[in-house]
Amino acid sequence: MKYEDFLNLKYKPASNDLIVMFRITPSKEFSVKEAAIRVAAESSNGTWSDLKVPKHIIKLQAKVFDINKDIIKVAYPVELFEKNNMSQILSSIAGNIFGMKAVKGLRIEDVTWPKSIIKSFKGPKFGIKGVQKIFGIKDRPITATVPKPKVGYYPSEHAKIGFEAWMGGVDLLKDDENLSNQSFNKFDKRLKLCMNMREKAEKLTGEKKNYLINITAETKEMIKRLKMVKDYGNEYVMIDILTTGWAAVQTIRDEAGDAGLAIHAHRAFHAAFDRNPLHGLSMKVLCEIARMQGVDQLHIGAMGKLAGSASEVNDNHTKTSTMGNKETNTMLAQEWYDTKPVLSMCSGGLHPGIVHPLLEMFGTSIGLQLGGGIHSHPGGTRKGAIALRQAIDAYKKGVNVTEYAKTHKELDEAIKKWGVKVYK
Ligand code: 3PG
Ligand code: MG
Repeated sequence: MKYEDFLNLKYKPASNDLIVMFRITPSKEFSVKEAAIRVAAESSNGTWSDLKVPKHIIKLQAKVFDINKDIIKVAYPVELFEKNNMSQILSSIAGNIFGMKAVKGLRIEDVTWPKSIIKSFKGPKFGIKGVQKIFGIKDRPITATVPKPKVGYYPSEHAKIGFEAWMGGVDLLKDDENLSNQSFNKFDKRLKLCMNMREKAEKLTGEKKNYLINITAETKEMIKRLKMVKDYGNEYVMIDILTTGWAAVQTIRDEAGDAGLAIHAHRAFHAAFDRNPLHGLSMKVLCEIARMQGVDQLHIGAMGKLAGSASEVNDNHTKTSTMGNKETNTMLAQEWYDTKPVLSMCSGGLHPGIVHPLLEMFGTSIGLQLGGGIHSHPGGTRKGAIALRQAIDAYKKGVNVTEYAKTHKELDEAIKKWGVKVYK
């Protein structure tokens, strides 16, 4: 068995193969083909020197079956992988290969996951419809807000900001990715005070409210925090899925599932993997893995303060929220069987003036998270939240946001401060 054995341009992938689309930038001494066969070998069962192996091992070889400029496709026999074990799967297809000398850059653009692997993971318990049901919302986006500054508030201040946001019409108060259990804002105290405020806000508004409290920590500690959240009657937990790791996310999915809690996933750390267009792996692959692992809501970007073009964000949304997609230049085909779709949470530098183009692109079955775009409203948090709901109301009524602002003061103040964005 040698590197050349991992090339078969006549191969037609079997329906249960796992397919990876890689973008390869070979190192100086290598062609794309030479780099490709090294990638296929190292990520399946080959090594740098030739080996004498029994026949049954040859059957497990990955095959480079397509090369188109710098894009190559590799088919992996499904037997290479342990089902329900994302760590093992990624140690194969996203393992040693990123550090091979044969490649200067290597990026996983997309993966087609076969049915047996998709079905071996639980997927979301709630999914889009399930979380909409928590709020009794079908025809408008679910709204969320992170108190800003993101860390520094005492629990009482955090809860008060939550109250103001809920009163202004926000559905979900959300912790930021780096708020957990710091000395100045202890988890248990924050949870307790926010739950008190939530009760008050629900009574006063007649609307269902919830709290995306960040349980991110060591796994056993996360389970303790999750149980605390359940005991207080909140219906969500939030986890930083990439800094905690997939195995931890899977454990939390089991625990949250048993407790009947929905999971909000923050993607902090994603850009270490997906920002470099020639190396790492794309956000849409992270979206797919998060969906298999069973989060109910996931940050997908939104053309605000974070990098990522409209078409990239749209691809992310396709992977989280549709039941399948066909192959395109940037994506491989995927079928989701009965795995529920995940609510795409648009977040990062958003304000009421960006709401319409986002809803035009993604429809209303999404989440909109505005941190700075609510709390730095000239009238403060509550008015900022009101402005967001007004922008949504205007969209639903088919009225241009600038027009609607003429009769809605809070929205008017918001768009005077941040302007109106058009993606065309
Ligand atoms: C997030 O976690 O999504 C960010 O903290 C968003 O904050 P922003 O709305 O102020 O950009
Ligand atoms: Mg944040």
